[in-house]
Amino acid sequence: MVHFLGPRVRVSADESSGLFTARGGAGTRVTTDALVDAFLPEPSLAESTNPLLRDLVTGGGTAVGRESAASPGTLEVDSRHRVIGPDGRAQPQLWAVGPWTSELPIGAFARPRTNAPCHRRNDALARDLLHAALRHGKTARANAANLSVESPGEPAAEPTPRTVRSLRLGVLGPGKIGSALTRAALRRGVEVAVAGRSPATALAARLPGARHVGPDVLASSCDVVAITVPLHVALALEPAAFQGAVVIDATNPWGEADAAAVAAARAELGDLDGRLSTSELLAARLPAAHVVKTLNHIGYHDVEDHGREDGDPQRRAIAVAADDQRAADAVGRLLQRIGFEPVQVGTLAEGRELEPGAGLFSGWSTRDELSRLRRELVRVA
Ligand SMILES: NC(=O)c1ccc[n+]([C@@H]2O[C@H](COP(=O)([O-])OP(=O)(O)OC[C@H]3O[C@@H](n4cnc5c(N)ncnc54)[C@H](OP(=O)(O)O)[C@@H]3O)[C@@H](O)[C@H]2O)c1
Repeated sequence: MVHFLGPRVRVSADESSGLFTARGGAGTRVTTDALVDAFLPEPSLAESTNPLLRDLVTGGGTAVGRESAASPGTLEVDSRHRVIGPDGRAQPQLWAVGPWTSELPIGAFARPRTNAPCHRRNDALARDLLHAALRHGKTARANAANLSVESPGEPAAEPTPRTVRSLRLGVLGPGKIGSALTRAALRRGVEVAVAGRSPATALAARLPGARHVGPDVLASSCDVVAITVPLHVALALEPAAFQGAVVIDATNPWGEADAAAVAAARAELGDLDGRLSTSELLAARLPAAHVVKTLNHIGYHDVEDHGREDGDPQRRAIAVAADDQRAADAVGRLLQRIGFEPVQVGTLAEGRELEPGAGLFSGWSTRDELSRLRRELVRVA
């Protein structure tokens, strides 16, 4: 017999009888001798019933950390997971990870052998810990031998992918795919600026680490701009803001609003047979931009989960269609950086193969598989 308790559930435990009583807000009451506690509470260190966790931020003179302003309720850590002390400085030998820290949210429950973001994060942290331990050991030995060594604590200048600042990605439309792309890029050390409709504070809380900018300055402040708004919104964008920009068109035509906008754009261009790909329609809307069609055939979850290191035989291929080689190369570099293998499949016109229902739209493939599929499609055509 299953009783649904509804909202505002309260559970009490009676130590003497060994029974649990659960009461729902609507008055339902269940008493039982077993309780499965699967709640995932919102993090709130300051209100934690665990004194060890609580004192990390509320311990007055003994607090070793502080609550994150960008991610309230959590312990502030830097990009290498070092705890930020109350004075704003990173603690050299204190690390914290997990959902109760201000780290970028990464998918949990990842399966083994997937090289998922949380495994990569743990590996990077393990490297830092080992490095610190080695330096500590060296210092201890040197002290014993009365030798001088560099001071321990601050890990040496080990290259960290998180701080590479050479690539700036702009994301217009931080919805499902835009947010996934933002997080994937931030984790790989790409600077990301995001333009959306939500207020800056909401975006900062949702996508910590990303800069919030207005849509008018996105293109001028980034090397590549990903358009991840619905297609009908993209087809109404103001062209002046995209002068000279390398633009990723990640959109797909779904639903009535997109269909109407596509029909209107085709009519305006005299494309009565519907020959133009939707990216060519967008390129016509943004004539001074260099449009690259890509990411259309990958689900948003997979943008975060399928990235692999260069050389991994299971690295997923992503098709890229463009009329401008330099723009395709810039986008290819971004895809490589976030863990994918760019495969050029031709011009924007040929990018039709990436649209829903077409030959390259769905399915996971490696570089070789995608290239083979592409050759077969060309042969059939
Ligand atoms: N989801 C996927 O797995 C996936 C994969 C590949 C390609 N795509 C394509 O990518 C595009 C976006 O898909 P999505 O699933 O990410 O959609 P979504 O979750 O609905 O996100 C759309 C984004 O566009 C913004 N937006 C919507 N209407 C707008 C308007 N009138 N003006 C300004 N911004 C507006 C939304 O702003 P708010 O945040 O304020 O709502 C949101 O940030 C679609 O064309 C889709 O086909 C999606």
